[in-house]
Amino acid sequence: MDTKNSLSWLTLILHWIIAFTIIGLIGLGLCMTNFELYDYYDTHKSIGIILVSLIVLRVARRIKQGWPVPISNYDKREMLLAKIVHWVLIVSTVLMPITGMIFSGATGHGFGIFGFEILHENIDPSNPEKTIPLSQFWGYFGEISHEYLGYLLILAIVLHIAGALKHHLIYKDSTLLRMLGKKI
Ligand code: HEM
Ligand code: HEM
Repeated sequence: MDTKNSLSWLTLILHWIIAFTIIGLIGLGLCMTNFELYDYYDTHKSIGIILVSLIVLRVARRIKQGWPVPISNYDKREMLLAKIVHWVLIVSTVLMPITGMIFSGATGHGFGIFGFEILHENIDPSNPEKTIPLSQFWGYFGEISHEYLGYLLILAIVLHIAGALKHHLIYKDSTLLRMLGKKI
């Protein structure tokens, strides 16, 4: 159970595994699209789908337990900004895999977990090198929303890390240390 003095091991594990995996997936996603690294698409999709299980567990815990209590009373505007950033982070970690699956599914590329197919590729019978889209609209929707939600997520992560560093280096409080497992 999370308290003001310490966070549970499950909160810590979920935070750090999801945090580093999301940062990795963003980096891989941007490299894949900018340098046309098609060999990495399956790895990106597989890790994203596996991560969904941890994301769902974390969201369920937040719904049940609420957010960790701030260590002290800070400036109201900063508290509000931190709250908005936490919401953007958690909602976009849910929406990113969903929009990724919509994109891959609707464009006919399919998706799965390291070779185990969940949605098959929709291969063109007259040209097995090509796939046939299932829906132009949902393909476009998935592509645009996955890309722009990704940019929103990057902005939120930058603000979030800046906030964590501000607490640690300027306010010199235990916000970061508590997330690293220290009892305060
Ligand atoms: C939390 C999980 C995920 C994150 C943070 C993430 C992040 C990203 C980012 C930042 C990009 C680059 C976007 C661009 O510049 O156009 C990308 C591309 C892509 N992602 Fe994800 N992704 C996640 C999960 C998934 C999942 C589950 C799938 C599919 C099952 C998926 C499929 C794709 C595909 C196909 C691309 C390439 C898009 C293109 O070629 O235009 N992603 N992802
Ligand atoms: C690697 C750099 C990161 C650092 C240093 C960091 C630091 C922190 C700290 C200190 C807290 C506690 C805030 C409080 O007590 O109010 C926190 C909470 C949180 N962080 Fe991060 N974080 C990082 C990356 C991320 C990423 C990439 C995400 C999202 C994908 C994320 C999502 C969250 C969420 C949703 C919370 C609220 C508590 C929870 O649900 O675990 N963090 N983070």
